[in-house]
Amino acid sequence: MAAGPPTGAALSRSLTRLDLVVIGVAQIIGAGIFVISGVGVKIAGPGILLSFLVAGAACTLAALCYAELASMIPHAGSAYSYAYAIFGELPAWIIGWDLILEYGMAAAAVAAGWSFYFQDLLRGFGVFLPVWASGPPWTLPGRVINLPAALVVLFFTLLLILRTRLNAFIAMLIVVVKLAVIAFILALGVGHVKPQNWLPLVPHGGWSIIQAATLVFFAYLGFDVVAITAEESRNPARDVPFGIIGSLAICSLIYLAVALILVGMVPYSQVNPDSPFSTLFRQVGLHWAADVVAVGAMIGITSVLYMLLLAQPRVLFAMARDGLLPRGVAALHPRYQTPHRMTLLCGGAVALVASLTPIAKLAYLCNIGTLFAFFLVCTGVLVLRFTRPDLHRPFRCPGGKTVSALGALVSLGLMLSMPGGSWWRLGLWLLAGLVIYFLYGWYSRRLRNG
Ligand code: ALA
Repeated sequence: MAAGPPTGAALSRSLTRLDLVVIGVAQIIGAGIFVISGVGVKIAGPGILLSFLVAGAACTLAALCYAELASMIPHAGSAYSYAYAIFGELPAWIIGWDLILEYGMAAAAVAAGWSFYFQDLLRGFGVFLPVWASGPPWTLPGRVINLPAALVVLFFTLLLILRTRLNAFIAMLIVVVKLAVIAFILALGVGHVKPQNWLPLVPHGGWSIIQAATLVFFAYLGFDVVAITAEESRNPARDVPFGIIGSLAICSLIYLAVALILVGMVPYSQVNPDSPFSTLFRQVGLHWAADVVAVGAMIGITSVLYMLLLAQPRVLFAMARDGLLPRGVAALHPRYQTPHRMTLLCGGAVALVASLTPIAKLAYLCNIGTLFAFFLVCTGVLVLRFTRPDLHRPFRCPGGKTVSALGALVSLGLMLSMPGGSWWRLGLWLLAGLVIYFLYGWYSRRLRNG
């Protein structure tokens, strides 16, 4: 094992085991289930149930590997720190750069989804945004910028500069509302389910299940954010694996239940891809319930956005602390002890991207970046099981070699099933990262040599 990342400025340790599960659930349930599941139904019909199972299985394999590494290397930065410790600096840079893409694109996609729910709600009150401010260019005539998406990102960026403990408290409140809305959908929806709508289970063939899985995979993302907060948790070795696996298990069960309602209430061809759940209740004549669901979905999506904006600067923080980026940017705010410069930089960039890019492009790019990180994490666990079987592992992934090898294969398989456009965008991003890495390395060596 190469030397771990050098230590430097540390984040304050304030998060408990329960906080971590809350952060996990707050992060996982969001635009994926409330918005993207509807697009998945268009691809796979009732087979979306199987797509959720496939995506959930891939995430569980990766989660077990994340948990093992997080318990061994509880540094801020997640997969980035693991790659640093296992493979050294350059692979760490690549994965850190990839994570920045993942969190940035996810935050931008979630903000775009939030914006459309928000506009739906405004329309309900008879308020209409001017067309130019209602969405990104080249989607509908007259659109120039998705203004609500940019503003919501900037608002939460400022909030995040306040301390982490406060953030966890806000997350807790939002999680309660989000779970209440999910319970509401399940309780009210179950009475309107017609089991014949679940059949045929696979109307578009087996390949559609995999294709939809590469999309609804988005709904599971977020458990790795728990690993990122390891440096801020009181007992990382014990609490981080608990937080990761606990939150993923809760969310997986919820998704299956919710998906059964989604394709059970109306024939799958009538599921709306934009706001599937509120539309479901309108379709069965429950307009008041549709409004409740719309507000709840907006709140649910908000918490995901908040957590993504929390996670992204923390990866950059870890990279700068290790000297891969100028150290000045890792400085903590003197009063709030948060990486305020990074938070502002990331928030500004996400606001820009969210305001100008269509949501589907953002989701696919986020998914392929994440699968790449999963692939590297699973490979890392496998390599360490062979090269350093003696290392202390506070949490051991059960069936370590088999599970990690399977995790790596499934992640690669899902990546290969994704649209070609996502591949070349990922390639371009990684290439840009390498150029920056070598330029900055060359520049800092010149500085050192006087
Ligand atoms: N899992 C997160 C969501 O569904 C990213 O929005």
